[in-house]
Amino acid sequence: MFIVFEGVEGSGKSTQIRLVAESLRACGIEPVVTREPGGTAAGEAIRAVALDPDLHVDAVAELLLMLAARSVFVREVVRPALAAGRVVLSDRYELSTFAYQGGGRSLPMDKVKELNAVATGGLRPDLCILLDVDVEHGRARGRWSATDRIEGEERSFHERVARSYRDLARSEPDVALIEGRGEIQDVFAAVWEALATSFPETFPPRGC
Ligand SMILES: Nc1ncnc2c1ncn2[C@@H]1O[C@H](COP(=O)(O)OP(=O)(O)OP(=O)(O)O)[C@@H](O)[C@H]1O
Ligand SMILES: [Mg+2]
Repeated sequence: MFIVFEGVEGSGKSTQIRLVAESLRACGIEPVVTREPGGTAAGEAIRAVALDPDLHVDAVAELLLMLAARSVFVREVVRPALAAGRVVLSDRYELSTFAYQGGGRSLPMDKVKELNAVATGGLRPDLCILLDVDVEHGRARGRWSATDRIEGEERSFHERVARSYRDLARSEPDVALIEGRGEIQDVFAAVWEALATSFPETFPPRGC
């Protein structure tokens, strides 16, 4: 099973993945926890280039770097894990590309999706948990760093990303839009409920 966590910077992806992983372990399931871009040595190297604030990377190059990392990620991390029957929890996947390079960078969405499908070989998540917080709210959580070229983009870029995510929640299949502004445990309850609604055998409604 392939579960993806999405949302703007500071929306709580890493926090919620950690909590879901802990709850799965309590159920005797050891998930594969990973992140994009990255998750492999090649992926982490591509990530370093893609996010280096000292490098000039145009929008198309940025898209292709993300997709290069994704190709390696799908083939080396996700497919083998799924073939072994594991639960994969990924911090970001294709919705990030649609929102950041399609929405944020204003690249044509149909082309972005086409190229993405080449990189993934058509592998879609079983469910995408989209944590919805305002850009300002995520920013106020103080995780923003000047060492990340994309995080360092201007406010209007991040507003386009947030808007694009909300549009995608309506247009893409298998996306659960979760209000991300509450207390960490309340957000987690909503995340778990979304997982339990779709896959009650893996994510028991009342936990383990
Ligand atoms: N619901 C919440 N309420 C208050 N603070 C939160 C909440 N969820 C997460 N945080 C805190 O906000 C900060 C950012 O959360 P987290 O790192 O999980 O976000 P993220 O989506 O992974 O961000 P990034 O995209 O930058 O990796 C962390 O310090 C975390 O402890
Ligand atoms: Mg994170």
